[in-house]
Amino acid sequence: MSRSQRGAAEPVTRLMPLAGTVPLAALVSGCSASPMSYLSTEGPAADPVTLMGWGFTAIAAATTLIISGLLLWAVVRHRPLRLPEARETMERGGNGLKWIYVGTLVSTPVLFGMAVWMVAATAAVIAPGRPTALTIQVIGHQWWWELRYLDHQKNQSFIGANEIHVPAGVPVKLELMSADVIHSFWIPKLSGKMDLVPGQLNETWIEASHEGEYRGQCAEFCGAQHANMVLLLVADNAAAFEAWWNAHAQPQGQVADAVSHGRDLFMKHCGECHTVDGTAAKGKDGPNLTHVASRRKIGANIYPNKRGHLGGWIADAPTMKPRVRMPAMAEKLPGGDLIAVLDYVQSLH
Ligand code: CUA
Repeated sequence: MSRSQRGAAEPVTRLMPLAGTVPLAALVSGCSASPMSYLSTEGPAADPVTLMGWGFTAIAAATTLIISGLLLWAVVRHRPLRLPEARETMERGGNGLKWIYVGTLVSTPVLFGMAVWMVAATAAVIAPGRPTALTIQVIGHQWWWELRYLDHQKNQSFIGANEIHVPAGVPVKLELMSADVIHSFWIPKLSGKMDLVPGQLNETWIEASHEGEYRGQCAEFCGAQHANMVLLLVADNAAAFEAWWNAHAQPQGQVADAVSHGRDLFMKHCGECHTVDGTAAKGKDGPNLTHVASRRKIGANIYPNKRGHLGGWIADAPTMKPRVRMPAMAEKLPGGDLIAVLDYVQSLH
């Protein structure tokens, strides 16, 4: 959990005794600390809009309070209806118009200031103020994310899936595309949403102010498993990112003898749909599985990348994620064959 997430939760926690058992404080606290909260953000592609959202909320709340107060004051002070003899027509004094002038005079600069703020915030998030460090292509599939890391220094491009790694503290350019239907890229802590549209290239950018993990989510309904189309962004310091990049740009053609049987089975049964760089497996329908063992989660980030979950996924993915395109492999990989493939996949660090 990042510093600002903790910081945002503390003041609200202190208010808890005042709120008693009212769940409001817990709700606000939970909301701003949760990984999908946009109430507190952690990057320059999101912060200006978050600040504006809080600012506009404060202005709207103050306006409501002031108007309500004035209205209450007018009702109590001038009490137009004195029952029961309140049959006479209401009369307005000659000085009513001055409130219109006062109101216009006060609200005009406030509304103008809000318009300027909005234009400035929009300009601040539309493009980064400095050159981007690298470009990552994000391609939406039902229901997973393909990530093409385009080389930034050396001649090393490679493809990953579902877990997007970036260096912290620098802007990264994203090129968004779709392989099938419309999806939407959204990492609430770091940026607003942008759609991935078939036949169209949308560009956006992202920057994580500090190291950490950030949860993202497809934000456009795209079919049965839309809600489970989860993206995980990992922001590393420069040295760790460089090390990660160098490791992941390596193909994985060589494997230990102990898993060579599993590799042969994988090539036969899985290579039509999946790619492992440096091998005969060059399928494009499913996620690229080069270095898959180093990813934190599987199934587009809905299950831990543990042996039990991974074995279950290979055996019967449609039960773990209904309507997923990957077929159950249990019949084609009976008994020891499943274990052998599992051993091979787990060796792809
Ligand atoms: Cu992809 Cu919703």
